[in-house]
Amino acid sequence: MSRYAFLILPSHNRVYADAAPSMARAELAVLSAALPDGTIEDGSVEETVIGGVPYVTFQADGLSERDTALLANLSSLYALFEVTGTTGSELLRPVPLRRLDRFDDDLLTILKYAGKTNEQFTKLLLNVTLASSAFAREVLPPESRRLAVLDPLCGRGTTLNQALMYGFDAYGMDTDRRDVEAYAVFIQRWLKDKRLKHQADFFPVRRDRQVVARRLTAEFAASKDDYKAGDVQRLEVVEADTTRVAEFFRKASADLVVADLPYGIQHGSHAGGERKALARNPLELLRAAAPAWAKTLRPGGALGISWNTLVARREDAAEALAAAGLEVLDSAPYHAFRHRVDQAINRDILVARRPEDS
Ligand SMILES: C[S@@+](CC[C@H](N)C(=O)[O-])C[C@H]1O[C@@H](n2cnc3c(N)ncnc32)[C@H](O)[C@@H]1O
Repeated sequence: MSRYAFLILPSHNRVYADAAPSMARAELAVLSAALPDGTIEDGSVEETVIGGVPYVTFQADGLSERDTALLANLSSLYALFEVTGTTGSELLRPVPLRRLDRFDDDLLTILKYAGKTNEQFTKLLLNVTLASSAFAREVLPPESRRLAVLDPLCGRGTTLNQALMYGFDAYGMDTDRRDVEAYAVFIQRWLKDKRLKHQADFFPVRRDRQVVARRLTAEFAASKDDYKAGDVQRLEVVEADTTRVAEFFRKASADLVVADLPYGIQHGSHAGGERKALARNPLELLRAAAPAWAKTLRPGGALGISWNTLVARREDAAEALAAAGLEVLDSAPYHAFRHRVDQAINRDILVARRPEDS
């Protein structure tokens, strides 16, 4: 049994305030259940001050390189150490971290707008959803499978960018014309600025001579050789109502579905704010869209949502997911993500899985 300690990113406390420690522990608990080789001892996760600095510490047995390659992606983790020595004279040995990240951070941070889902929280939601699916191990070396992530309420693409950051394919839908346009402009600019070999297009989708949607498609690779070999990441965003997801994305084509539901309140002075305030109540939207979202998931895939508990109860949101044929995950860590965002928003997470035999 070895002891580990990790330093938390300073921004984690700014995002979650009082809930920061419980968020970090819950994410660690969900990820630890998906470790391919080692195990983290139940109940061993705690906060410990070493040399006057707070760390999250835990006991683990047989952590392999693949295990640390998964833990390295924890949204709160800054640096990981193995702890030796005795209390008061600890020695910290840095554990080399091989994160999934494959691009510069600015992919996630450049776009700033009212209504943006915090990028650190988005990473947490994606991580927890990934760890709850049957596919967490497949994303690690040597397999390094490229998953397909769908955000059916993608806004200006925070989830899509986090998925691309991990080397996955990213698919999105949103009704807000300005959001989809702003994202299309951003990502095409970013691909050019980073000199990544790519092809991108943003065009109207016509049926019977009517424009029924607009669609952004892009293909790119981290290196020219990968691009030539056809080893590309795909991005596709459709401007249309999310209940129409089956018109644009094939059944069982997404490994993960991740969405931050509308908060049911107006977002500050955002130009689209009024329209968004008039949007459907988040629970109604979830009830209407969850069956179609569930069908886009592969068996063994997982869906993770976040929403404002001040406008919709957890039990009702869980019922909507269960009614869509998904298994809602209900163990203790999944109940430890609730946190305050501001006066009008208390955010929570629900994760559900499409049964492997469905
Ligand atoms: C909380 S925001 C998501 C923000 C996004 N994660 C981001 O960081 O940009 C919810 C999104 O749901 C979209 N939305 C609401 N109702 C929708 C519907 N029926 N179909 C598609 N998108 C919808 C809104 O336009 C909004 O962008």
